[in-house]
Amino acid sequence: MKRLAVLLLVIALTASLTACGNSTNSSTPVSSSQPAASSQRETSLPASQNAEDSEPVDDSSGKSESNILIAYFTAGENSGVDAIASASYTNIGGSAVRRVRALTDMIEAETGGELFSIQTQTVYPADGGELIDFAAEEQDQNVRSELTSHIENLEQYDTIFIGYPNWWYDMPMALYSFFEEYNFSGKTIIPFNTHNGSRFSNTIQTIEQLEPNATVMEDGFTVSEQNVADAGEDVAAWLDGLGY
Ligand SMILES: Cc1cc2nc3c(=O)[nH]c(=O)nc-3n(C[C@H](O)[C@H](O)[C@H](O)COP(=O)(O)O)c2cc1C
Repeated sequence: MKRLAVLLLVIALTASLTACGNSTNSSTPVSSSQPAASSQRETSLPASQNAEDSEPVDDSSGKSESNILIAYFTAGENSGVDAIASASYTNIGGSAVRRVRALTDMIEAETGGELFSIQTQTVYPADGGELIDFAAEEQDQNVRSELTSHIENLEQYDTIFIGYPNWWYDMPMALYSFFEEYNFSGKTIIPFNTHNGSRFSNTIQTIEQLEPNATVMEDGFTVSEQNVADAGEDVAAWLDGLGY
């Protein structure tokens, strides 16, 4: 029943994206929640967030001295194609941006942390409708996606930001693989996510169970997918409140 409700929500959203699209490229989905003024959009996001330069990033080899790692999962970086038409992109300031990645970049800009894209052996469908079913099946089967990216220098980090979309009122299964791979004992885990109405669901409690010896911040950052473009100031204020 829940799944039906979300499916209807996603279908409605997809329909509204198509209806409200104002891009000159008709194959590019455009968020219905785009801010009106492009100057507003530009000030709320770091300049580098477009599809061309937001390839999966793994900075975890300890190139810098940062003790902050910003790990994130987004289907858009695990779909095997640079599919700008994918449902995992939203249009911000005329650029196609992955939503979780957009938040990740905002946190990087504020904290100087290093990025780590959680990469899977699984190739996720670029088509939004197919992804919905695919993810439901993975959850039903309690699948553990095999991860192909690995944090090289875990001991360097004492703070791990972890970003993910809400999928079926839960974390994507790749996040279970991620938390089962690492022991974050003694570290601080700070969750952030994007959603379409369900906020974090119970994912923070799930992370607490998976990492019982870590400090998991319950004051994570969550934002509706429609408001990601405007989230820059809120992200900065949230980080400020946490002392970053
Ligand atoms: C497979 C799938 C399941 C989803 N399930 C939910 C859900 O249960 N609750 C919700 O609020 N949003 C749900 N969403 C919406 C996503 O959380 C939202 O689109 C998110 O911003 C996607 O992030 P991304 O653009 O980085 O992929 C779902 C999206 C997908 C693709």
